[in-house]
Amino acid sequence: MVLVIAGDGTAKLAHEIAKRLQATVAGVEAKTFPDGEEYVRIEADVQGHDVVVVQTTYPPPRLMRLLLTLNACKENGARRIHAVIPYLAYARQDRLFKPGESLSSRVVAEMIALNAHDVVTIDAHKDDIRAFFRIPITNVSAEKPVADELKRQRIEVVLAPDAGAMPRARAVAQRIGAQFDYLEKKRISSDVVEMTPKNLDVRGKSVCILDDIISTGGTMAKALEQLKRNGARDVVAGCVHGLFIGDAADKLKRAGAKDVFSTNTIESPFNRVSVADVIVHALALKASTPGAR
Ligand code: R5P
Repeated sequence: MVLVIAGDGTAKLAHEIAKRLQATVAGVEAKTFPDGEEYVRIEADVQGHDVVVVQTTYPPPRLMRLLLTLNACKENGARRIHAVIPYLAYARQDRLFKPGESLSSRVVAEMIALNAHDVVTIDAHKDDIRAFFRIPITNVSAEKPVADELKRQRIEVVLAPDAGAMPRARAVAQRIGAQFDYLEKKRISSDVVEMTPKNLDVRGKSVCILDDIISTGGTMAKALEQLKRNGARDVVAGCVHGLFIGDAADKLKRAGAKDVFSTNTIESPFNRVSVADVIVHALALKASTPGAR
C-alpha cells in the first residue's frame, strides 16, 4: 500500500497527490529545538510500505526536515522511498563560480540519496543538477498547469525576464497560441539599464512575465515597470516557485502587476496553479521505468 507522507508546509499538495493516487496520508510531527536543531516523527507505521514523502525545501529548515523524514522512513522499515521535492533548494550552485566555493547542489543531492530511492522535483533551477544524483531523478515541468492559468487569464504575450528563461516562456506560450519573447538588458548610460522585449511590441497587450523563481521580487518589479512604460495593457507576474521574501508581493503590486501568481511548490496566498497532476504523472512513469530501484 502506498502511504503519502505530508511534510511540513506541504500538506495541501500532499493531500492532492494522495487523492489522485488513492493513497492514505500520514502527517509528520515537526519541531525546532531551542538550539535550532530540527526534529521529525512520522505519525504512522511505515513498515513495509511504499512511501511518497512530499516535502518542499523552502525556507531552509525544511531541507533538514526532508532529510530527517527520508531517514525516518528508512529507519522504520519503509520498502521504497519516493522523495517528492516540489522546490529543490541549492539548485543554483551547480558549479564552482569562484575558486574555494562548494558544489552545493551535489551536497544536497548526496544527502537526499542517502535514504531516498528516487526523486521527483518541479522545474529545478538548473536541469544539470540531475547529474549529481546517484538515484533516478525526474525534473518535471509545470508548463502545462501554468499554461492553463495563462489561458484562463487570456494572456496574449508570455515574456521571459532574460534569454536563459526563454525555453519556459516559449513552451507555455506555444501551448496557448500566445506570442513569446524575452527581455533584453540595454545599458542606456553608466547607471541606467533598461529591460525591453527583444522583438515584440507589447503596446495594448495583455502580458505575463514568467520566471522560475520570484525571490525578493526585484527582477520582476523592474520588468513590470518597464513593460508598463512600453504601453502593455495588463501585466501579470507569474512564477513556478514563489518564495516572496519580505515585501516582494507588495513590491510587484506597486510596480503595476495586475496579478501575481505561483504554483503550489511553496505554499503561499499566491498559489493559483497546482502541480499535483504533473507529480503524479511523473511518479507513475517512474514506477514503470525499467531498472528504477
Ligand atoms: C534567477 O536566476 C532566477 O531565475 C530568478 O530570476 C531570480 O531568482 C529572481 O530573484 P528576485 O526575485 O530576487 O529578483
